[in-house]
Amino acid sequence: MSKRNNPVGILDSGIGGFSVVRQVQRLLPEEDILYFGDGAHVPYGNHPEKTIVALSRYMFEFMEQRQVKVLLVGCNTISCVIEQCKDLVSCPVFNAVQAGVSGALAGGGDRVGVISTVFTHHCQTYPRQIQAQGSQELRVFSRGCPNLANLVEHNLGSGAGMSQVEAELRRELDELVKTEGVQCCVLGCTHYSLVSDQIQKLYPQLSLVDPAQEMARSLREYLKENDLSREDGRKGQVTIYTTGDVKEYALRAEQTGLERVEQIVAYPALEI
Ligand code: DGL
Repeated sequence: MSKRNNPVGILDSGIGGFSVVRQVQRLLPEEDILYFGDGAHVPYGNHPEKTIVALSRYMFEFMEQRQVKVLLVGCNTISCVIEQCKDLVSCPVFNAVQAGVSGALAGGGDRVGVISTVFTHHCQTYPRQIQAQGSQELRVFSRGCPNLANLVEHNLGSGAGMSQVEAELRRELDELVKTEGVQCCVLGCTHYSLVSDQIQKLYPQLSLVDPAQEMARSLREYLKENDLSREDGRKGQVTIYTTGDVKEYALRAEQTGLERVEQIVAYPALEI
């Protein structure tokens, strides 16, 4: 039986993947989306690899049980351990790092910055892949940001909180832009896409690569080529499951501009 009317799965450690939901809704408004955010354990980027893999496998299993037709790993940190999780799902999987690398290669400029969680930075997946696929002259400057994702997760819409986010953005980006002279920067954590306007305001000359946009484009192409686009003529809905606070998720969904959020459901967290 065709899976064309099954939802697209999107997962993240928290609300960062809302940046991916937003782009998918923009390009593919007819698709239903099933979202999982592991609010009980965010931020993932400061956990050891073993814990990140266990938490991610829990979410992959959830998605497989619900028969998503495609899974978008809207989390760069999980994308770095994806080979240890993929066996759990039978559908195709698109990941944020793959999307960010394509965006960086298309972005132009031979000095590319990548800001990400500490875990993603330590994995060095971005520099390795960009350098392997790019030109000889290309130099990649990767930076792990220990506090940024968590600050974004809990401070959207708060004046004082956003000032903290802005101070942290300066702390992390000033050196990359002013000392290393990067011309283009990959937002190597989906939470950062939620504050891309603030980043652009601080560094107007910097061109930003947002993996969320690239993921939505790849999804559109895949669904079309494989005859898997939803076709019952109505607009798609979003169902959100979270191990975090349902009320906070409802607020964040609204603040980040998600549309047609049908339901936000509490889900038990994996005990670690
Ligand atoms: N949004 C996630 C990413 O893209 C992870 C943030 C975190 O939980 O540390 O890496």
